[in-house]
Amino acid sequence: TGLSAMRRGVLIVVEGLDRAGKSSQCEVLRGFLSEQGHTVKYIRFPGIQLNCIASMYHWSNASIDRTTPIGKLIDSYLRGSSHQDDHSIHLLFSANRWEVAKSIEEDIASGTTIIVDRYSYSGVVYSAAKANPTLSLDWAWQPEIGLPRPDICLFLGISPEEAAKRGGFGAERYENEAMQIRVRELFQTIFEKMQDVAVIDAGKSMGEVSKEIRGAVTGCISRLDITSTLRKLE
Ligand code: TMP
Ligand code: MG
Repeated sequence: TGLSAMRRGVLIVVEGLDRAGKSSQCEVLRGFLSEQGHTVKYIRFPGIQLNCIASMYHWSNASIDRTTPIGKLIDSYLRGSSHQDDHSIHLLFSANRWEVAKSIEEDIASGTTIIVDRYSYSGVVYSAAKANPTLSLDWAWQPEIGLPRPDICLFLGISPEEAAKRGGFGAERYENEAMQIRVRELFQTIFEKMQDVAVIDAGKSMGEVSKEIRGAVTGCISRLDITSTLRKLE
């Protein structure tokens, strides 16, 4: 009946190094959850393609693939066509999440499950990997506090050797070996201490990886109190 408790959506984050297959696995997971009867949305950071963003900026439906003003600044930095101070770009990545925080909360509350391709964990790890003396992991985490907290974070781990087999790196900033090695170490550091994280060996076949992901997500959903509200990062 209308009085029965409202099922909230589930906030699922997928993290990992470049070449780990995050985006493809997000797509497979989305298909699986839809078949299970969930209403599912996929979003990614940086560069957001969301209906709610479009309406926030009063864009027509035709332009929902436009990024936000902050997303555009990040994009030009990553392509190497603009420079930013390390702290400044870090805060822009965080601001990019804050500008959708409210709509994520609203979607989850109204029953939509969201799959997020990269989140605060990439945020802190990539920035701290620059080894800037005034940009520690601790410093980097501060602007993330208060953002919606994922119900589960899937970390797709992949070895440097396996990543290299998959076609090497692209031309974007951070897509180089030294950076990726530090990023891998820092992901390990933060996920060791974290709850609600499932470490997945993304070096396996596509089918095996998606099976592991389905298992982890199904377990999370069965444990979740769906009458609860979404928690916040702290
Ligand atoms: P992508 O490979 O998923 O498109 O992400 C682009 C790059 O942005 C990737 O190298 C990781 C980096 N990144 C950050 O440095 N900080 C962040 O907060 C996020 C979400 C990504
Ligand atoms: Mg990339």
